[in-house]
Amino acid sequence: MTGSEGRRRGLFVTFEGGDGAGKTTQASLLEEWLSDAGRTVVRTREPGGTDVGVLIRDIVLHHRGGVSPRAEALLYAADRAHHVETVVRPALERGDVVIQDRYLDSSVAYQGAGRVLGRDEVRSLSLWAAEGLLPDLTVLLDLDPAVARDRLDADDKPFDRLEAERESFHTRVREEFLALATAEPGRFLVLDATLPAEDLAGAVRARVGALLG
Ligand code: TYD
Repeated sequence: MTGSEGRRRGLFVTFEGGDGAGKTTQASLLEEWLSDAGRTVVRTREPGGTDVGVLIRDIVLHHRGGVSPRAEALLYAADRAHHVETVVRPALERGDVVIQDRYLDSSVAYQGAGRVLGRDEVRSLSLWAAEGLLPDLTVLLDLDPAVARDRLDADDKPFDRLEAERESFHTRVREEFLALATAEPGRFLVLDATLPAEDLAGAVRARVGALLG
């Protein structure tokens, strides 16, 4: 534990899962529930939770000329470093609840397993970027990539660089998320993303409520 970890008083909750799993909906429902209960919530995301991050997000998701896998991993890590230092850690030190769409598990799953850069190296890079900050709770919304693809198709938005990857890529990503959850059962809550949104929200509330005492 670093010195700044020791000053941490808030709660850090991340939502993870494949594209189209419903993370944003669940993050919003949790934010609403906590705000109604009088908690101060910082709702944020990676990539793109800061002004610098918005620029990085545009490169990693929309650059047409392609981005090499290592450059992609470094760009996500750069986004994370700036975001943690300027948004997440200050909020936790104030005692706020941080609710975040995606964090370092996305790097391990997408760059480590999807791009085949290796889980340990990518995790170390992310931990270095974030000065060791890990979430108190990570909600994994698990979904078959074929079902996710149908949801994204129905959305009618153009696919970004990662969403446009083939099914085998998204299957590796899904398997890596599940392996991460198995390796750290205390940090992860794994939910079946095909369940109704209200049931998922109830399960998330129960866990967050227990953590907040
Ligand atoms: P997201 O914001 O969930 O996309 P959307 O706005 O379309 O819901 O995430 C953007 C993409 O970035 C997503 O495909 C996953 C990918 N990603 C990584 O590959 N590595 C990372 O470290 C992070 C945070 C995201």
